[in-house]
Amino acid sequence: MTKGEHEAAENDAEDISVGGLRDLERRVRELERLLGRRAAEGAVSEASHPAPPAAAMKPRIVFLGAEPRAIGLIEIYGLADHPDFALADRRPDFNGRQFHGQKVFGFDELALDRLEAVVITEDPVVIKDSAEEYAGAVGFLRRKGLPPGQVISVSEPGKAHRALSRVVARTAEHNRQIGHLAVRRNLYHRSHYAYCMILAAETALQMSLAKVSAVEFGVYRGSGLKNMCEIADFIHQTLGVEFRIYGFDTGAGLPAVADWRDHPEIWTGGTYAMPDFTELAAQLPDNCELIIGDCKDTLAPFLRAYGSAEAPIGFVSLDVDQYHSTVSALKLFSAEATHLAPVIPVWVDDAYIGVLQTTYAGEGLAIREFNEQHDLRKIEQKVVRTDDFPRLWHHCIHFAHIFDHPMRQGRMPVNFEYFYHTAY
Ligand SMILES: C[S@@+](CC[C@H](N)C(=O)[O-])C[C@H]1O[C@@H](n2cnc3c(N)ncnc32)[C@H](O)[C@@H]1O
Repeated sequence: MTKGEHEAAENDAEDISVGGLRDLERRVRELERLLGRRAAEGAVSEASHPAPPAAAMKPRIVFLGAEPRAIGLIEIYGLADHPDFALADRRPDFNGRQFHGQKVFGFDELALDRLEAVVITEDPVVIKDSAEEYAGAVGFLRRKGLPPGQVISVSEPGKAHRALSRVVARTAEHNRQIGHLAVRRNLYHRSHYAYCMILAAETALQMSLAKVSAVEFGVYRGSGLKNMCEIADFIHQTLGVEFRIYGFDTGAGLPAVADWRDHPEIWTGGTYAMPDFTELAAQLPDNCELIIGDCKDTLAPFLRAYGSAEAPIGFVSLDVDQYHSTVSALKLFSAEATHLAPVIPVWVDDAYIGVLQTTYAGEGLAIREFNEQHDLRKIEQKVVRTDDFPRLWHHCIHFAHIFDHPMRQGRMPVNFEYFYHTAY
């Protein structure tokens, strides 16, 4: 602003007391225009200061996408005003504005010579529109010439945390809080897995164990399993508990439908055949194993060979869709008590969301029958709450209670430093 413009602005400011409200608003807008600002529009407003010259902004970490999730991550990692961090957006109308108090840069405003990672904050799947948004962000970064190794999605919390850890100095306690808060605030993708897995980790801590296992029944292309591996990596880095992960799948898709209990109106044999399980196996980390074959045949030998009390099964995802497959998968909960955690969060993918899903067919029926057949093993739905927003997935969480487990029988010391339920 020139000296003359300053004086004009100051004179305007003295005059405004004489006008009516409308005139006052007009004058305020005019004053802001003179000062190089504009009024806030919703959650997004233009920056109150002009953008620094591009060369001044050389972030090591960029969040791409002015999304509520980005703000949550900025808060829990303490990134606001961090000199190595920038929030950017590829939508031109967001550039130079403020989003929940955080300045939003245009991606082209940033110098990339120190850049280590870009975290895309849009959700990779969930609903069609957001998937397109995410694909748009990936394409945008590709066109900007970013190597894929520098691009991290919110389904990769392990990679994101590792990248952020290089720029954010944290105490061990802050690190642990990040683990809890990221899950509690649903900041990473597939919150239901994250929620169940952090409970599994806390159960391990209660048992003074450093390891726990997670099992996914029904893997298909592996997006859930790979996400599980990333969440495991994140929890290992934050809470210090290590996971072993097992994915069971026929490899050939759903078995043939046997009768009405398998929901023939929804499912057909052969749906969800894995495109190539050797390729998927090669993408999995060392702590994850793919077990190919019908789980009616593969589970018993797995449990016989398992025999490890040092990493009991602490989380199970049931996503084999049909009644008969679920009956086979639920045999896991008949394993020796020492193979299992005393209480196991169970993700039940197809039991309660759809109108056709009931406890008289499909996964719901398999669970009901399991409970009828076992006196000391019970699987029960528990509607959970992670933050202030009710979410559909809160209704799909179950817990398997292993009442004959040494801990549930009062024969095992419990580390009561960890009261995980109250934390959520
Ligand atoms: C809906 S898909 C799983 C999707 C995956 N959980 C995800 O979120 O990315 C269901 C999978 O269950 C597998 N499946 C069904 N019955 C099975 C059985 N009896 N044994 C092993 N796998 C089975 C199918 O091969 C199919 O890939």
